[in-house]
Amino acid sequence: MNTSLSNEINTVHWQGDSSGHLEILDQTKLPTQIKKIVCKDVPAVVESIKKLRVRGAPAIGIAGAYGMVLAVQQAILLEDSSKKKIAYIQQRVGDLATSRPTAVNLRWAIQRIESLILNAGENPDFLKLSKDVLTEAKRIQEEDQHLCEKIGNYGASILPDGDILTHCNTGALATGGIGTALGVIVTAWEQGRRFHVFADETRPLLQGARLTAWELTQRKIPVTVLADAAAAHLLKTKQIGCCIVGADRITANGDTANKIGTYGLALLAKAHNVPFFVAAPSSTFDLALPTGDKIPIEERDEDEILQPFGFKSTPASARGFNPAFDVTPAQLITAIITERGIIRNVNIQTVADVLHDCS
Ligand code: MRU
Repeated sequence: MNTSLSNEINTVHWQGDSSGHLEILDQTKLPTQIKKIVCKDVPAVVESIKKLRVRGAPAIGIAGAYGMVLAVQQAILLEDSSKKKIAYIQQRVGDLATSRPTAVNLRWAIQRIESLILNAGENPDFLKLSKDVLTEAKRIQEEDQHLCEKIGNYGASILPDGDILTHCNTGALATGGIGTALGVIVTAWEQGRRFHVFADETRPLLQGARLTAWELTQRKIPVTVLADAAAAHLLKTKQIGCCIVGADRITANGDTANKIGTYGLALLAKAHNVPFFVAAPSSTFDLALPTGDKIPIEERDEDEILQPFGFKSTPASARGFNPAFDVTPAQLITAIITERGIIRNVNIQTVADVLHDCS
C-alpha cells in the first residue's frame, strides 16, 4: 500500500516539542499553491478551522487537539494561579470546540484532551501537562492514520465493479491518513482494481474540484470533475458502480450529516439503483443523538454563494442560502464502512452492533 502520499500531504503537522507550533497546509490555496501556515496560538487555529484552511471532520479534530497544546503553552505564560490557568484552558476548549458545529470529531478530540487535563488534578505541573497533551494529540493523529487503513480495506472488500462517484473531499487532506471514502478508492486502486472516479465539484467551495481531483491526480488515479447538478444525468447515462462519501456526524440510527449535496446524491442513487456507501471512523458517530434531526447544521457566510471566490455573480439585492451540510436518512445508505466493520441494513440495532462500546 502506498501510504506515502498521506505523509507527504501532511495536512496538519506539529513542529518541534511541546513548546513548538502547528503547521497547517492551507487548503484554501489548493490546487494552485502549496502553502503552509504556522499557528502559534489558539485564535490562529480557530481562524484556520473557520476559514476551511484545514477541513474534513477527522482533520479538524486533529487540528483542534494540537490547538490544545497551544492553549496549555499560553496558560504557562500567565502569571496566575493554577485555577485561573485551568479556567483559561477551558475557555480555549470552548473556542476550539465551537469553531465548526457539525463535525462531531472536533468536539470528540478536544474532549479527549480536556479529560486528560482535568485528570491531572487542581494543581498540575503545566510543563509536563503540555508534553502529555502533545503526546495525546499525536496519538489521535496516528490512530486516525490506522483507522483510515482499516476503513480502506473493509471498503475495498465490498466495492462493486464499475466507476465511482464521490462528493466533497475525504482523502489525505481531510484526515490523518489516506482518507475515508477516498481511502477506500485509493486502497481498491492499490489492490489492482481499475475504474474511473467522478468527483462532484462540490459547490460552493469546490472541495471536489480543487482537492479530490488534486489528490487523485497526484496518485495517478483517473478523475473527471462534474457540476453537482450533473450527477443525475451521470447516474442515468453511465455505468456507475457505486457512490461513496464521507461523514461529519452519524447518529445512533445511522442518519448521516455530510457536505451539502450528499442527501440529494443519495436520493439520486436510490432512484437509479446504485449502491450508496458512507465511510467514516467511529469518532464520527454521535450515539447520544437518536436521529439526524438534531444535528446542528452549519450555515456559512452568504457571500460564499453570492460572490464565489470573490467573483460577484448575483444581483446586489439577492440573498444567499448557504448550509454547509445536509442529513441523509439511514434508509438511503446501502452500508456504512467503519474501522470496526461494515454496517449493512443501517438502523439503530445494526449501528449498535458494530459501535457497541462507543459512548
Ligand atoms: O466543509 P468541509 O470541507 O469540512 O466538509 C467536509 C465533508 O463534508 C467531508 O465529507 C467529511 O468531513 C468527511 S472527511 C473524511
